Amino acid sequence: MKSKIFAANWKMYLNEDESLDFISRMLINKDLFTSHNIMLFPSHTSLNSVKNAIIDMPNIKVGMQDCDASLFGAVTGSNSISSLSVDACIVGHSERRIIFNEDNDIINEKLKNCLETVETVILCVGETLEEKNDHKTFKIIDKQLSILPKNLNEKKLIIAYEPVWAIGTGLVASNDYIQEVLSYINNVIKSLYSDKILIDINLFYGGSVDEKSVIDLSTIPLLDGFLIGSASADFEKFENILKKMR
Ligand code: PGA
Repeated sequence: MKSKIFAANWKMYLNEDESLDFISRMLINKDLFTSHNIMLFPSHTSLNSVKNAIIDMPNIKVGMQDCDASLFGAVTGSNSISSLSVDACIVGHSERRIIFNEDNDIINEKLKNCLETVETVILCVGETLEEKNDHKTFKIIDKQLSILPKNLNEKKLIIAYEPVWAIGTGLVASNDYIQEVLSYINNVIKSLYSDKILIDINLFYGGSVDEKSVIDLSTIPLLDGFLIGSASADFEKFENILKKMR
């Protein structure tokens, strides 16, 4: 089985001290953490400290959980993707779409800016429970993917399928369901991109991934990795996920 990528979305769970404590615990078991493909997404205020603290684990990537739709300007309290040097950025997370009312136009701006600035962009897509029950999943995914540009500027794109009803709920989508949606996404990207570009696109699942669900989920054929929220911000849980996937 191809080794998976683990993207840890720490959301607003860890402050700077807690983030640094997390990294020092990683360093104690450095072999485990450096043997996996890991991406860390700390809060913006902890990014620089985390970047400095992981200097001895150079294969670990660090990214922003979100960025502003603009690159520069009078946007009090916001953060541009070019404000810090990071490896990656998440755009279109359902918490941004729902809590911050971000629509496709805003996410499109963010995606464009990120594809010009960072090495890897994670675009999150997924339907709400209501949309699922109304059999609108593919329609919603189609709309969310309609912002994909013709060219990825030789950057890496990760499309994370995160059903909104599975995020933070303990409800994990079934393997068959995830595979069906990933196949759909795969067909969409195959219709858009050449084989040369497709190599740089990975498909992830996110939504209540933890040490109990990760092994079974990792058997999904089209799955390249996971976007993990709460379990990634709990050191023991994250360590256990990686131990299980060794
Ligand atoms: P969760 O979050 O693992 O806590 O469900 C996943 C995500 O929002 O990316």
